Amino acid sequence: MTKIRAVITAVGGFVPDYVLTNEELCKIVDTTDEWIMTRVGIKERRILKGDQKGSSEMGAEAVNQIFEKTGIKPEDIDLLICATTTPDHIFPATGNIICDKLGIKNAHSYDLNAGCSGFLFALDAATQYIEAGNKKKIIVVGADKMSSITDYTDRTTCVLFGDAAGAVLLEPTYENFGIIDSMLFTDGVGRKYLNMKAGGSVMPPSHETIDQKLHYVFQDGKHVFKYAVTSMADVSADIMSRNNLTGDDVAWLVPHQANLRIIDAVAERMGLDKSKVMINIHRYGNTTSATIPTCLWEWEKQLKKGDNIILSAFGAGFTWGAIYLKWGY
Ligand code: UT7
Repeated sequence: MTKIRAVITAVGGFVPDYVLTNEELCKIVDTTDEWIMTRVGIKERRILKGDQKGSSEMGAEAVNQIFEKTGIKPEDIDLLICATTTPDHIFPATGNIICDKLGIKNAHSYDLNAGCSGFLFALDAATQYIEAGNKKKIIVVGADKMSSITDYTDRTTCVLFGDAAGAVLLEPTYENFGIIDSMLFTDGVGRKYLNMKAGGSVMPPSHETIDQKLHYVFQDGKHVFKYAVTSMADVSADIMSRNNLTGDDVAWLVPHQANLRIIDAVAERMGLDKSKVMINIHRYGNTTSATIPTCLWEWEKQLKKGDNIILSAFGAGFTWGAIYLKWGY
């Protein structure tokens, strides 16, 4: 019997209007445009402004775009998985809230937290339902309002992050397109280098946790950088060799956008020319679960049916991985 594959059939994305530039950050903390550009490669990032607006606000915008583009109705969706590190609330799940906002009534939904690898982990999970024949229309969302957990007095982190959301629709196909292979990993050694210490069950919110600024992203950048470069480059090269792909066979690398130097190192290891690498870090910064789907959204018009695409990410946990897919439209 022919294998059912899961193929992306539509993409949507959303970035907020407010542009936080390096120039504005230079007025808030002791930094320079030159430092940020040479060390990280970010020029500006988008920030979601307004009361009572969280990740679901952006996620719902991205998913709604898919409905508008395809004519598919919210009630046709069987499952929605939302990758996020900045859920609207600890509970209920942000995916549930997105469903409620859009009238997705015939689906179950849940959140998945794998840091910056969240979108890949969610896409892989969604693929299993489709390949098993259990679901026909699945939305995978990556949405993060990183500004909600960023300390804008800490120059080592506040220059890095931005807010955004991206989403894809996944459907079954009997053709040889869609998700072909995936390699995902976690290693808890990373939890001390990249985390948010308070707000969970180990350290519930208190006056002390607020005073000690424990509700913000903490990152030991140097350590994370070392792991990120090695893991992302290794897994990207491994998935290529496991599928007999050379640099010439790969049309696009879609890397997580944490640092331009990491992206360059991964592309070099894969033997890819820079023209085949989707890069929007200079405009949006690190939007965590949203980096990969927003790239697909921005590059959609340039993608061709049959393009070999490698998605690759590294994030908090540590988590990392790569997915090999053949573009389906
Ligand atoms: O997305 C999830 C995974 N995350 C990542 O993959 C991020 C990985 N890490 C990185 O991308 C980099 O480590 C950073 C961009 C976070 C930092 O770059 P770095 O080259 O590793 O810098 P560093 O942390 O070693 O700091 C170098 C210097 C320090 O000063 P001293 O100690 O050498 O005097 C920092 O205090 O740069 C200083 N510094 C800054 N200077 C100006 C740190 N942040 C800033 C800043 N502006 N914003």
